[in-house]
Amino acid sequence: MPKVFIKTYGCQMNERDSEQVAQMLIRRGYSMTADENEADVVLLNTCSVRDMAEQKAIGKMGNLIHRKRGQKAVLGFLGCMAQSRGPELAKMMNVDLVVGTQKFHKVADYVDDLLARKRAEAEAEEALFMDDVRFSIVDIEEEAGSQETIRDHTLKPGQKTAFVSIMQGCNMHCTFCIVPYTRGPERSRSIPEIVREVEELVARGVKEVTLLGQIVNLYGRHEFPKVDGKGPFVQLLEAVHAVEGLERLRFTSPHPIGYKSDLIEAFRYLPKLVEHVHLPLQSGSDRILKRMHRTYSSRKYLELVERIRAVRPEMAITTDIIVGFPGETEEDFQATCGLVREVGFDNAFIFKYSQRKDTPAAAMDGQVPEEEKERRHQELLALVNEIAREKMEALVGSHVEILCEGPSKTNPERLTGRTRGNKIVIFEGSDRHVGQVFDVKVTRSSGFSMYGDPAILDA
Ligand code: 5AD
Repeated sequence: MPKVFIKTYGCQMNERDSEQVAQMLIRRGYSMTADENEADVVLLNTCSVRDMAEQKAIGKMGNLIHRKRGQKAVLGFLGCMAQSRGPELAKMMNVDLVVGTQKFHKVADYVDDLLARKRAEAEAEEALFMDDVRFSIVDIEEEAGSQETIRDHTLKPGQKTAFVSIMQGCNMHCTFCIVPYTRGPERSRSIPEIVREVEELVARGVKEVTLLGQIVNLYGRHEFPKVDGKGPFVQLLEAVHAVEGLERLRFTSPHPIGYKSDLIEAFRYLPKLVEHVHLPLQSGSDRILKRMHRTYSSRKYLELVERIRAVRPEMAITTDIIVGFPGETEEDFQATCGLVREVGFDNAFIFKYSQRKDTPAAAMDGQVPEEEKERRHQELLALVNEIAREKMEALVGSHVEILCEGPSKTNPERLTGRTRGNKIVIFEGSDRHVGQVFDVKVTRSSGFSMYGDPAILDA
């Protein structure tokens, strides 16, 4: 039984794709290992969104090639970087396998072939000494219907949360973003297919699903019509919401322009939809938003936040922000800081702009020096952390609903759960809490995590 090690870089969609690949390999009789040293097959599922992510995967592969060459292991790149740099990567690193974002379902076939070939090579080598010339498979073709192939799950015992990919690709073409080139145009799965997958998950014990897409709230806009004034995404939310036994429903990652009134209203009548929205801002400067091709203004963004909070006042709002986009002046940056204060985000991911191959922004004038990006990154991070701390402190003393996910990563003696607002609560509990949804009283906050006590409620 050959052993497979898969390492995943980047977003939740990549995690999902890796899970699909793992599931297909397991079905063929492979087993997964967490130890790359004993693996016969090592696959790196890559991310291209920033240069750092690419460098990490390339560095890792360099190291693996060095250590595993003699072991006749199959080494491969999958996913976004494989898609955008396929043939070049195969040549540069001389790996066995390079598979793009529309061909995950072919990985098991390719790995079978490559392992068989290696076995034959090993036998032949004993007879006649062969050169170490590698045979590689590169498949980065587009494939109609590939969005339907990410649908199988390997649940761990007691796993109560799962991701469900509902669409692939993005047509928005934000000028900084490589995703349209790595993931292709928008293609959505059908509502019945997605509902069937959620039903299966719930039957296997899952209580919370997160619907995934690169531009998740524009789901189905090219494929499916509006019905009763509701767009396809809201129709999908309603259908998934109706699955009996499902307790919580999340989605990520959306675009602000996809929050039309039908979606905002859905938060009013769909109680399983949690009190958390991710609302990627990218910049608080209208001039920069235009250059980014984000199609909203800072005023429109603020109005959207108000409309969402009017429906669910306790809504947690998180965001993504890029600092040092080409042409960003100190004034633009301060506009972003101002908006961050005004909205009061529960949390934010802040990224230093990274030039991506073939994207319009890479060729724009006014590229910001690295030290300046770093300074803005630090300054904004401090502001975001300060606001996040205030938001958490405001919850101390209140009761929050959590879904207990199991032992805390930092201290396995304690348990960890997530609130509906996606905040982590650490507490002392027992086995009976694991996998359950219940209320805890928040007793204190460290600024990064909250601590709670379920016993106070039990009493
Ligand atoms: N440089 C830096 N950050 C980027 N992101 C996307 N492209 C780039 C880039 N070229 C960020 C955006 C997006 C998040 C997933 O990654 O903020 O929302």
